[in-house]
Amino acid sequence: MTKKIFSGVQPTGNLHLGNYLGAIKNFVKLGNDSNNDCIYCVVDLHAITVKQDPRLLTENIRETVATFVASGIDPEKNIIFNQSRVSAHAEAAWIFSCVARMGWLSRMTQFKEKAGKDKEKASVGLYSYPVLMAADILLYDATHVPVGEDQKQHLELSRDIAQKFNNDFDQDNFLKIPEPLIQKEFSRIMSLRDGTKKMSKSEVSDLSRINLTDNKDSIILKIKKAKTDPLPLPNNVTELENRAEAKNLLSIYSSLNETSLENSVKEFAGKNFSEFKEVLIQVLVDKIEPISLEINKLMSNQEYLDKILDLGYEKANDLASKKVNRLKEIVGFY
Ligand code: AMP
Ligand code: TRP
Repeated sequence: MTKKIFSGVQPTGNLHLGNYLGAIKNFVKLGNDSNNDCIYCVVDLHAITVKQDPRLLTENIRETVATFVASGIDPEKNIIFNQSRVSAHAEAAWIFSCVARMGWLSRMTQFKEKAGKDKEKASVGLYSYPVLMAADILLYDATHVPVGEDQKQHLELSRDIAQKFNNDFDQDNFLKIPEPLIQKEFSRIMSLRDGTKKMSKSEVSDLSRINLTDNKDSIILKIKKAKTDPLPLPNNVTELENRAEAKNLLSIYSSLNETSLENSVKEFAGKNFSEFKEVLIQVLVDKIEPISLEINKLMSNQEYLDKILDLGYEKANDLASKKVNRLKEIVGFY
């Protein structure tokens, strides 16, 4: 059966190793399998739930497209587009915001984290963000949604919205219930400065993450400065508990090498961090530097990036406008 894949990435700059290993690497794999129809969306409507500099946002939309392509997503075989151009997303999001319940949204942990202490000052959009995400997914009848672990709760909300809509309007199976595709291992890459915190675009210290635009020297510097602990590397995986930094660095190494954490632990058992870091740097430079160079090259070819988005818009708009028209009919609009 053909899998319909949909996923999105926010164009908020600093796409990093966590985005790559948790999501984009999987997008590439799924996109290269001819059994799948894949749609990858630059979710610019989501980006403005927090303040953005308009000029930088435009630049970041292009950079996200460049990152997709540089990572290996083929823009001819897959649909790459930006969300704001396809008006069906905003329309469907409104309808779904009348289906979703306040109680469901108030349980979303990402809102709590992003809004911080002063919830009163958070935008309404930041609160209803997962409803727009449900619209993204449900408009394309996506069957599978590849994301990092942090998006699991939002995916569950999309499923709840689809089910409630189908029930409320007696539309058996009109909205398809999407399955999350979350990698069992390495779906949460942690900060290089604090192994208990997620690697994140918004972390102030650039040393906390490897950006996909980092050059070789920055990669070397960041790994050399990455936090460790005083012990040598352990002999088995259980001993990694309570050693968050060691576990994270070994996970990064394993994920890049497509091997298990157990294998990597075996490889470096008893060695000290400096020896391990040398090997890790080599793997990172081999995998990330070509992507970074390609992003740079693509960013100087704006015309090509814009063409990808034009083509993606045509295809996505065609699919989404049909679905949203049907959605409006079901609700009773005419
Ligand atoms: P975002 O940058 O928030 O739009 O996230 C894009 C994708 O990257 C989503 O699927 C996230 O779940 C994933 N992601 C973001 N940060 C991490 C991380 N530190 N580890 C693994 N996946 C991540
Ligand atoms: N919320 C996702 C994130 O921050 C991005 C996103 C928006 C998304 N719409 C989506 C992911 C639809 C998957 C499917 O990472």
